[in-house]
Amino acid sequence: MNRRDFVTMLSATAVTKWASLETAVQAAAAPLKQLADQKGLMFGSSLALKYFEQSPAYKQLFVSQCDIATPELQMKWNSLSRQPGIYDFSTADQLVAFCATNRIKVRGHTLVWHDSLPVWVPGQLSPVTARTVMLDHIQKVAGHFAGKLYSWDVVNEALDPGSQRPDGLRSNLWLQNIGVSYIEQAFRATAAADPKALLVWNENYLEVSNGFGDAKRKAMLNQLDALLAKGVPIHGVGLEAHLRGDQANVLGDASYEAFLSELTQRKMKIFITELDIQDSSLPADVGERDKIVADIYRKFLTASLRQPAVKGVVAWGLSDAFSWISGYRPRKDGLPVRPLAFDINCQPKPAYFAIAEALEAAPRRV
Ligand code: XIL
Repeated sequence: MNRRDFVTMLSATAVTKWASLETAVQAAAAPLKQLADQKGLMFGSSLALKYFEQSPAYKQLFVSQCDIATPELQMKWNSLSRQPGIYDFSTADQLVAFCATNRIKVRGHTLVWHDSLPVWVPGQLSPVTARTVMLDHIQKVAGHFAGKLYSWDVVNEALDPGSQRPDGLRSNLWLQNIGVSYIEQAFRATAAADPKALLVWNENYLEVSNGFGDAKRKAMLNQLDALLAKGVPIHGVGLEAHLRGDQANVLGDASYEAFLSELTQRKMKIFITELDIQDSSLPADVGERDKIVADIYRKFLTASLRQPAVKGVVAWGLSDAFSWISGYRPRKDGLPVRPLAFDINCQPKPAYFAIAEALEAAPRRV
């Protein structure tokens, strides 16, 4: 009997006390990190220690489910530095220490991005200064954590077909002031500061199978070809996968799988880095909503994990109690959002079982 059937059976039998049903359901919910590990994969989540103060149950859930984590905020530039050149690593250090204690790998996130900059950064950028500002930041931050992180998201969301450039790059502050070489420089500087970390280009919407996604995928492959030909140390690509529940038809199809093969041919390690499913415009009925969300998790992850170059899955949160979607894409009807694998009481939802099934169906990595 598979896990989902077991839980359905538990719900259907005469388990009189709600508490004992909950315990039984939780016992049936094998840790996702364990299911992943059986296939040579990693499973994890974004992490912010402040949530553990609000919910000790969440802390327990996190440690039991995850063997890799991405700081949700703590390594972003605006979290580390409020004034020019002055850095406070204390909160990020706590997170790294927590992960070390609990044998959780850390994905450094993120060094060069157009978002989450402290107010002082844009004010200091000019074609004369920008290169130094960026390289100083990389040396300080990647240097500080050197040897302690599994990987770095060196550049984040650097593509944007909306910028209308032939190369598909986002016309952000770095590109405007340094030029297209900012990407190469960022990767080389990170490799020098932390030679052990795996260096990743993290990007959104590479997984959607519409015209926008096509343009992104094409730009990504062109960028990789140019950078790799020059020997730029880029080891992996992160697919954020902030998916939308109302776009089930454009996810995990043939063009996506072909793209993963193209990345594989370029010897990239691939990571799903920020997985969640927005249920903001889905029906109000919880059963119906949870089913749509779970089906997308299953479809997307099954397609992704079929490819051996995909090494791990990181969700953008584990419990619906602590999801950025409640602020970023709230429901118009005011109902709480349900984008993640576990509910607000840290109990597994259909999404959990869908993720578990996809991990169980994945070929074992060698
Ligand atoms: C988000 C956080 O979850 C929010 O709390 C914060 O307000 C904004 O950033 N792409 C990324 C992540 O690479 O860092 C973003 O995280 C979500 C989109």
